[in-house]
Amino acid sequence: NKKVILDVDTGVDDALGILLAVQSGKLDILGITTVNGNVSLEQATVNTCKVLQLAGAEHIPVIQGADKPILRSSYFEHRVHGKDGLGGALSDMSVHKQAEEGHAVDFIIDQVRKHPGEVTLVMTAPLTNLALAVMKYPELVQQVKEVVVMGGVVQGFGNVTPTAEYNIYVDPEAAKLVFKAGFSSLTLVSLDVTRKALLTEAHIDSMGDSPLANYVRESTADYMQRYQERNGVRACAMHDPLAVAVALNPELVVTKHHFVDVETRSELCDGQTVCDFQNRLLQQPNVHVCLNVAAEEFLELFIRTLRGERN
Ligand code: BDR
Ligand code: CA
Repeated sequence: NKKVILDVDTGVDDALGILLAVQSGKLDILGITTVNGNVSLEQATVNTCKVLQLAGAEHIPVIQGADKPILRSSYFEHRVHGKDGLGGALSDMSVHKQAEEGHAVDFIIDQVRKHPGEVTLVMTAPLTNLALAVMKYPELVQQVKEVVVMGGVVQGFGNVTPTAEYNIYVDPEAAKLVFKAGFSSLTLVSLDVTRKALLTEAHIDSMGDSPLANYVRESTADYMQRYQERNGVRACAMHDPLAVAVALNPELVVTKHHFVDVETRSELCDGQTVCDFQNRLLQQPNVHVCLNVAAEEFLELFIRTLRGERN
C-alpha cells in the first residue's frame, strides 16, 4: 500500500476525502495533519477526529499544525461548509478521539525521514504546514515521493475571488513556496477538474442507507444548496476526494507538466495560480496540471468504496 499523509482543514469535502482514503483499504495512512482553513485549527481537528470515529479508524493519528497562514490572517469558509465545517452533521457525536502530542510540521518531517522516497502527501487545505516543513527541513523536498495538491484553477474562474481558488487564496505565500520548492512530482488537482466531479443526490441514493451514506447525505445537503445557488446545479463538487482518488489511481486524470506560479502581490488577483501553458517565461515545468478527469469513473469509485465494496 502507498504510504500517505493527508493534510486537511476538515470541511465537508475534506471529510469525504478522508472517508475515501480510509475505506479504500489501499492506502497506508501514516497520519492526518490539520491546519487552519475552512474552519479554525481546533475545529478542523475535532472534525477530523469525528470523521475517523465514524469510519471506525481511530487508530489513525491526527496531528495539529498551523493555526494561521504564514503572513495573512484566517479566512474561514462557513458560507460553504456551515458553522461547524461538517454542514451540521455529527453535531451530536461525543468525541473521544484526540490529536496526538506534537506539531504537524514535525510529524511530516519525521515520517518522510523515516520512509525516504516512499511518502505521498495529499494536501486538501491551505499549504501552510507543508511550506513550514520545507522551510524547517529543506531536504524534505528530495525525500518525498510525490505531492498531490487540491488547489488552484488554471483555465476557469476562482471560487473565492474571480481568479483565486480557496486553498491557494488563504495562504498564497505558502503555495508559492511549495510550487517552487522543487518536488520531483507535484500534481495540482484544480477546480478545472474538481468542478467536473459532481456528486448528486441520485449518487447518494445509490449508496443505500448505511451510516456512511446517511452521513454523506446530511453533511452535503446545505453544501449542495449553496452550489446550486451559484452554479445552477444541485450537487457537491468533490474537490478534496478527487485529490485522494488521484493518489489512489493517477490514471483518473489527464495531466500536463507546466510552470505554475502564484500571484501574491495584486489587489485583484492575489492567490491566482498562473500556468505558463506556452512556456513564455522559459521556466522549468514544476507542476503536473490536471486538464481532464474521468468523472464518472471517479464517482463510481467513491460510491463503491463508501458502500464497502473493495475495488
Ligand atoms: C477547496 O476549498 C475548501 O473550501 C475545500 O475544502 C477544498 O479543499 C476547494 O476550493
Ligand atoms: Ca479542504
